[in-house]
Amino acid sequence: PRKIIIDTDPGQDDAVAILLALASPEALDVLGITAVAGNVPLPLTEKNARIICELAGRPDMRVFAGCDAPLKRKLVTAEHVHGKTGLDGPQLPTPTMALQPQHGVDFMIETLRSYPPGTVTLCPLGPLTNIATALTRAPDVIDRVQEIVLMGGAYFEVGNITPAAEFNIYVDPEAAEIVFKSGIPITVLPLDVTHKALTSAARVQAFRDMGTEPGRMVAEWTDFFERYDKEKYGSEGAPLHDPCVIAWLLQPGLFTGRKINVEIETTSELTLGMTVADWWGVTNRPANAFFIGDMDATGFFKLLTDRIARL
Ligand code: BDR
Ligand code: CA
Repeated sequence: PRKIIIDTDPGQDDAVAILLALASPEALDVLGITAVAGNVPLPLTEKNARIICELAGRPDMRVFAGCDAPLKRKLVTAEHVHGKTGLDGPQLPTPTMALQPQHGVDFMIETLRSYPPGTVTLCPLGPLTNIATALTRAPDVIDRVQEIVLMGGAYFEVGNITPAAEFNIYVDPEAAEIVFKSGIPITVLPLDVTHKALTSAARVQAFRDMGTEPGRMVAEWTDFFERYDKEKYGSEGAPLHDPCVIAWLLQPGLFTGRKINVEIETTSELTLGMTVADWWGVTNRPANAFFIGDMDATGFFKLLTDRIARL
Protein backbone atom coordinates (compact mmCIF):
# COMPACT_ATOMS: atom_id res chain seq x y z
CA PRO A 1 0.00 0.00 0.00
CA ARG A 2 0.98 3.56 -0.69
CA LYS A 3 2.14 5.47 2.41
CA ILE A 4 0.30 8.74 2.99
CA ILE A 5 0.00 11.49 5.59
CA ILE A 6 -3.38 13.23 5.62
CA ASP A 7 -3.17 16.93 6.51
CA THR A 8 -6.64 18.21 7.28
CA ASP A 9 -9.08 20.75 8.79
CA PRO A 10 -12.27 18.68 9.32
CA GLY A 11 -14.83 19.71 7.87
CA GLN A 12 -17.58 17.31 6.83
CA ASP A 13 -15.93 16.64 3.45
CA ASP A 14 -12.55 16.12 5.13
CA ALA A 15 -14.30 13.59 7.38
CA VAL A 16 -15.57 11.62 4.39
CA ALA A 17 -12.08 11.72 2.85
CA ILE A 18 -10.49 10.33 6.02
CA LEU A 19 -13.11 7.57 6.25
CA LEU A 20 -12.50 6.65 2.61
CA ALA A 21 -8.75 6.38 3.23
CA LEU A 22 -9.11 4.38 6.44
CA ALA A 23 -11.56 2.05 4.69
CA SER A 24 -8.96 1.23 2.01
CA PRO A 25 -6.02 -0.37 3.87
CA GLU A 26 -5.12 -2.64 0.95
CA ALA A 27 -4.22 0.47 -1.09
CA LEU A 28 -3.39 3.16 1.46
CA ASP A 29 -1.25 3.01 4.57
CA VAL A 30 -2.16 6.14 6.56
CA LEU A 31 0.97 6.89 8.60
CA GLY A 32 -0.69 9.67 10.58
CA ILE A 33 -3.11 12.55 10.42
CA THR A 34 -1.97 16.13 10.96
CA ALA A 35 -4.56 18.78 11.78
CA VAL A 36 -4.32 22.39 10.68
CA ALA A 37 -6.39 25.51 11.35
CA GLY A 38 -8.84 26.14 8.50
CA ASN A 39 -12.56 25.48 8.38
CA VAL A 40 -12.54 25.96 12.16
CA PRO A 41 -9.70 26.71 14.63
CA LEU A 42 -7.06 24.05 15.43
CA PRO A 43 -8.52 22.84 18.79
CA LEU A 44 -11.62 21.80 16.86
CA THR A 45 -9.90 20.35 13.77
CA GLU A 46 -7.64 18.09 15.84
CA LYS A 47 -10.57 17.00 17.98
CA ASN A 48 -12.67 16.35 14.88
CA ALA A 49 -9.88 14.26 13.35
CA ARG A 50 -9.95 12.05 16.46
CA ILE A 51 -13.75 11.71 16.32
CA ILE A 52 -13.43 10.53 12.71
CA CYS A 53 -10.71 7.97 13.49
CA GLU A 54 -12.83 6.49 16.25
CA LEU A 55 -15.83 6.40 13.94
CA ALA A 56 -13.70 4.40 11.49
CA GLY A 57 -12.78 1.98 14.29
CA ARG A 58 -9.20 3.23 14.27
CA PRO A 59 -8.50 4.69 17.74
CA ASP A 60 -4.90 3.54 17.16
CA MET A 61 -4.39 6.09 14.37
CA ARG A 62 -1.99 8.84 15.35
CA VAL A 63 -3.45 12.36 15.20
CA PHE A 64 -1.18 15.40 15.59
CA ALA A 65 -1.96 19.09 15.97
CA GLY A 66 -0.03 21.29 13.57
CA CYS A 67 -0.11 25.03 12.95
CA ASP A 68 -2.87 27.13 14.50
CA ALA A 69 -2.59 30.09 12.14
CA PRO A 70 -1.49 30.86 8.57
CA LEU A 71 2.15 31.85 7.97
CA LYS A 72 1.55 35.59 7.69
CA ARG A 73 -2.16 36.27 7.95
CA LYS A 74 -5.02 36.17 10.36
CA LEU A 75 -6.98 32.91 10.19
CA VAL A 76 -10.15 32.99 8.09
CA THR A 77 -12.59 30.20 9.00
CA ALA A 78 -15.69 28.76 7.31
CA GLU A 79 -18.34 28.19 9.99
CA HIS A 80 -20.87 29.55 7.48
CA VAL A 81 -20.34 26.32 5.53
CA HIS A 82 -19.40 23.73 8.15
CA GLY A 83 -21.19 25.01 11.28
CA LYS A 84 -19.74 25.96 14.65
CA THR A 85 -18.04 22.61 15.33
CA GLY A 86 -16.78 22.15 11.77
CA LEU A 87 -18.69 18.85 11.75
CA ASP A 88 -22.22 20.11 12.34
CA GLY A 89 -25.07 17.76 11.45
CA PRO A 90 -25.17 14.69 13.71
CA GLN A 91 -24.73 14.71 17.48
CA LEU A 92 -20.94 14.43 17.92
CA PRO A 93 -19.33 12.02 20.39
CA THR A 94 -16.46 13.14 22.63
CA PRO A 95 -13.29 11.38 21.41
CA THR A 96 -11.45 9.24 23.93
CA MET A 97 -8.25 8.60 21.95
CA ALA A 98 -5.42 10.96 22.87
CA LEU A 99 -3.87 13.64 20.72
CA GLN A 100 -0.17 12.88 20.05
CA PRO A 101 2.15 15.18 22.00
CA GLN A 102 4.43 15.81 19.00
CA HIS A 103 3.77 18.84 16.75
CA GLY A 104 2.25 17.83 13.40
CA VAL A 105 5.03 19.52 11.42
CA ASP A 106 7.73 17.67 13.38
CA PHE A 107 5.90 14.39 12.79
CA MET A 108 5.80 15.13 9.06
CA ILE A 109 9.51 15.94 8.91
CA GLU A 110 10.52 12.94 11.03
CA THR A 111 8.35 10.60 8.96
CA LEU A 112 9.72 11.85 5.64
CA ARG A 113 13.26 11.39 6.96
CA SER A 114 12.63 7.91 8.29
CA TYR A 115 11.25 6.29 5.10
CA PRO A 116 13.19 5.87 1.85
CA PRO A 117 13.01 8.95 -0.42
CA GLY A 118 10.01 8.95 -2.76
CA THR A 119 7.83 6.65 -0.68
CA VAL A 120 5.61 9.02 1.33
CA THR A 121 2.77 11.05 -0.25
CA LEU A 122 1.29 14.13 1.45
CA CYS A 123 -2.47 14.67 1.13
CA PRO A 124 -3.44 18.21 2.14
CA LEU A 125 -7.19 18.76 2.51
CA GLY A 126 -6.98 22.22 4.06
CA PRO A 127 -4.79 25.34 4.03
CA LEU A 128 -1.16 24.47 3.22
CA THR A 129 0.36 25.91 6.41
CA ASN A 130 1.70 22.65 7.88
CA ILE A 131 3.17 21.50 4.58
CA ALA A 132 4.90 24.83 3.84
CA THR A 133 6.24 25.00 7.38
CA ALA A 134 7.74 21.52 7.05
CA LEU A 135 9.36 22.31 3.69
CA THR A 136 10.79 25.59 5.01
CA ARG A 137 12.00 24.22 8.33
CA ALA A 138 13.55 21.10 6.82
CA PRO A 139 14.41 21.68 3.15
CA ASP A 140 16.11 18.26 3.06
CA VAL A 141 12.66 16.62 3.07
CA ILE A 142 11.64 18.29 -0.23
CA ASP A 143 13.42 15.62 -2.26
CA ARG A 144 11.97 12.87 -0.12
CA VAL A 145 8.28 13.60 -0.79
CA GLN A 146 6.85 11.17 -3.35
CA GLU A 147 4.02 13.51 -4.34
CA ILE A 148 1.61 16.08 -2.93
CA VAL A 149 -2.03 15.41 -3.85
CA LEU A 150 -4.14 18.34 -2.68
CA MET A 151 -7.63 19.78 -2.79
CA GLY A 152 -7.42 23.46 -3.59
CA GLY A 153 -7.71 26.17 -6.19
CA ALA A 154 -9.91 26.56 -9.21
CA TYR A 155 -9.76 27.56 -12.84
CA PHE A 156 -13.09 27.96 -14.67
CA GLU A 157 -15.09 27.79 -11.44
CA VAL A 158 -12.89 30.49 -9.88
CA GLY A 159 -13.73 31.17 -6.21
CA ASN A 160 -15.87 30.05 -3.29
CA ILE A 161 -14.51 32.30 -0.51
CA THR A 162 -13.89 35.35 -2.72
CA PRO A 163 -14.86 35.76 -6.39
CA ALA A 164 -11.26 34.89 -7.27
CA ALA A 165 -10.09 32.34 -4.73
CA GLU A 166 -10.81 28.89 -3.37
CA PHE A 167 -10.86 28.60 0.45
CA ASN A 168 -7.81 26.38 1.11
CA ILE A 169 -5.49 28.52 -1.00
CA TYR A 170 -7.02 31.82 0.12
CA VAL A 171 -6.53 31.12 3.82
CA ASP A 172 -2.75 30.77 3.45
CA PRO A 173 -1.60 31.97 0.03
CA GLU A 174 2.03 32.34 1.13
CA ALA A 175 2.05 28.69 2.18
CA ALA A 176 0.48 27.69 -1.13
CA GLU A 177 3.16 29.61 -3.00
CA ILE A 178 5.92 27.74 -1.16
CA VAL A 179 4.29 24.41 -2.00
CA PHE A 180 3.72 25.21 -5.69
CA LYS A 181 7.29 26.48 -6.07
CA SER A 182 8.85 23.54 -4.21
CA GLY A 183 9.49 21.37 -7.26
CA ILE A 184 7.69 18.43 -5.62
CA PRO A 185 5.31 16.58 -8.00
CA ILE A 186 1.87 18.04 -7.27
CA THR A 187 -1.60 16.84 -8.25
CA VAL A 188 -4.39 19.39 -7.78
CA LEU A 189 -8.08 18.61 -7.33
CA PRO A 190 -9.64 22.05 -7.93
CA LEU A 191 -13.22 23.26 -7.46
CA ASP A 192 -13.86 22.67 -11.17
CA VAL A 193 -13.71 18.95 -10.46
CA THR A 194 -14.96 18.77 -6.88
CA HIS A 195 -18.14 20.64 -7.83
CA LYS A 196 -18.98 17.57 -9.92
CA ALA A 197 -18.71 15.26 -6.89
CA LEU A 198 -22.21 16.30 -5.83
CA THR A 199 -24.41 14.42 -3.43
CA SER A 200 -28.04 13.78 -4.34
CA ALA A 201 -30.98 12.42 -2.36
CA ALA A 202 -30.27 8.92 -3.72
CA ARG A 203 -26.54 9.13 -3.01
CA VAL A 204 -27.15 10.22 0.59
CA GLN A 205 -29.79 7.52 1.00
CA ALA A 206 -27.19 4.92 -0.04
CA PHE A 207 -25.07 5.95 2.97
CA ARG A 208 -28.10 5.82 5.27
CA ASP A 209 -29.13 2.38 3.92
CA MET A 210 -25.84 0.88 5.06
CA GLY A 211 -27.36 0.72 8.51
CA THR A 212 -23.96 1.39 10.11
CA GLU A 213 -22.77 4.21 12.34
CA PRO A 214 -20.29 5.56 9.72
CA GLY A 215 -23.04 5.36 7.06
CA ARG A 216 -25.47 7.30 9.25
CA MET A 217 -22.88 9.95 10.19
CA VAL A 218 -21.83 10.45 6.54
CA ALA A 219 -25.51 10.86 5.57
CA GLU A 220 -26.09 13.43 8.30
CA TRP A 221 -22.88 15.30 7.51
CA THR A 222 -23.66 15.52 3.82
CA ASP A 223 -27.25 16.56 4.58
CA PHE A 224 -25.97 19.44 6.68
CA PHE A 225 -23.22 20.41 4.26
CA GLU A 226 -25.71 20.39 1.38
CA ARG A 227 -27.82 23.16 2.91
CA TYR A 228 -25.15 25.77 2.14
CA ASP A 229 -24.58 24.83 -1.49
CA LYS A 230 -28.30 24.50 -2.20
CA GLU A 231 -28.99 28.01 -0.92
CA LYS A 232 -25.87 29.58 -2.34
CA TYR A 233 -25.48 27.95 -5.74
CA GLY A 234 -28.86 26.34 -6.24
CA SER A 235 -27.00 23.06 -6.72
CA GLU A 236 -28.63 19.71 -6.23
CA GLY A 237 -26.38 18.53 -3.45
CA ALA A 238 -23.14 19.04 -1.57
CA PRO A 239 -19.73 18.92 -3.28
CA LEU A 240 -17.51 16.31 -1.64
CA HIS A 241 -14.31 18.22 -2.32
CA ASP A 242 -11.73 16.48 -0.15
CA PRO A 243 -12.70 12.84 -0.83
CA CYS A 244 -11.63 13.50 -4.44
CA VAL A 245 -8.00 13.51 -3.24
CA ILE A 246 -8.31 10.02 -1.80
CA ALA A 247 -10.39 8.80 -4.76
CA TRP A 248 -7.60 9.96 -7.10
CA LEU A 249 -5.11 7.82 -5.17
CA LEU A 250 -7.44 4.82 -5.18
CA GLN A 251 -8.76 5.04 -8.73
CA PRO A 252 -6.96 7.60 -10.90
CA GLY A 253 -8.93 6.36 -13.91
CA LEU A 254 -11.93 8.30 -12.57
CA PHE A 255 -10.13 11.56 -13.38
CA THR A 256 -8.48 13.37 -16.28
CA GLY A 257 -6.18 16.38 -16.21
CA ARG A 258 -3.18 18.18 -17.65
CA LYS A 259 0.33 19.06 -16.55
CA ILE A 260 0.32 22.84 -16.44
CA ASN A 261 1.83 25.85 -14.75
CA VAL A 262 0.03 27.14 -11.67
CA GLU A 263 1.05 30.34 -9.88
CA ILE A 264 -0.46 31.68 -6.66
CA GLU A 265 -1.51 35.31 -6.24
CA THR A 266 -0.09 36.62 -2.97
CA THR A 267 -0.09 40.40 -3.39
CA SER A 268 -3.30 41.70 -4.97
CA GLU A 269 -5.97 42.48 -2.41
CA LEU A 270 -8.67 41.78 -4.99
CA THR A 271 -7.49 38.38 -6.25
CA LEU A 272 -5.54 37.13 -3.22
CA GLY A 273 -5.15 33.35 -3.22
CA MET A 274 -6.15 32.94 -6.85
CA THR A 275 -4.63 29.91 -8.58
CA VAL A 276 -3.52 31.34 -11.91
CA ALA A 277 -3.68 28.12 -13.90
CA ASP A 278 -2.26 28.15 -17.43
CA TRP A 279 -4.69 25.52 -18.71
CA TRP A 280 -4.23 26.51 -22.36
CA GLY A 281 -0.45 26.86 -22.17
CA VAL A 282 -0.40 30.51 -23.17
CA THR A 283 2.79 31.23 -21.20
CA ASN A 284 6.26 29.68 -21.28
CA ARG A 285 6.20 29.07 -17.58
CA PRO A 286 7.21 25.50 -16.77
CA ALA A 287 4.52 23.03 -15.72
CA ASN A 288 4.58 22.49 -11.96
CA ALA A 289 1.31 20.66 -11.32
CA PHE A 290 -0.97 17.99 -12.68
CA PHE A 291 -4.27 19.89 -12.67
CA ILE A 292 -7.36 17.70 -12.74
CA GLY A 293 -10.06 18.96 -15.10
CA ASP A 294 -12.79 16.32 -15.10
CA MET A 295 -14.09 13.34 -13.18
CA ASP A 296 -16.55 10.46 -13.39
CA ALA A 297 -18.97 11.33 -10.56
CA THR A 298 -20.95 8.08 -10.85
CA GLY A 299 -17.79 6.01 -10.50
CA PHE A 300 -16.66 8.21 -7.62
CA PHE A 301 -19.87 7.63 -5.63
CA LYS A 302 -19.71 3.92 -6.34
CA LEU A 303 -16.20 3.78 -4.91
CA LEU A 304 -17.22 5.90 -1.94
CA THR A 305 -20.28 3.85 -1.02
CA ASP A 306 -18.45 0.52 -1.52
CA ARG A 307 -15.67 1.64 0.82
CA ILE A 308 -17.74 3.41 3.50
CA ALA A 309 -19.91 0.28 3.67
CA ARG A 310 -16.82 -1.66 4.78
CA LEU A 311 -16.54 0.35 7.99
C1 BDR B 1 -12.29 23.30 0.69
O1 BDR B 1 -12.56 24.22 1.73
C2 BDR B 1 -13.12 23.56 2.83
O2 BDR B 1 -14.25 24.24 3.26
C3 BDR B 1 -13.42 22.15 2.40
O3 BDR B 1 -13.18 21.26 3.47
C4 BDR B 1 -12.48 21.91 1.26
O4 BDR B 1 -11.22 21.44 1.71
C5 BDR B 1 -13.18 23.62 -0.49
O5 BDR B 1 -12.92 24.91 -0.97
CA1 CA C 1 -10.90 20.66 4.01
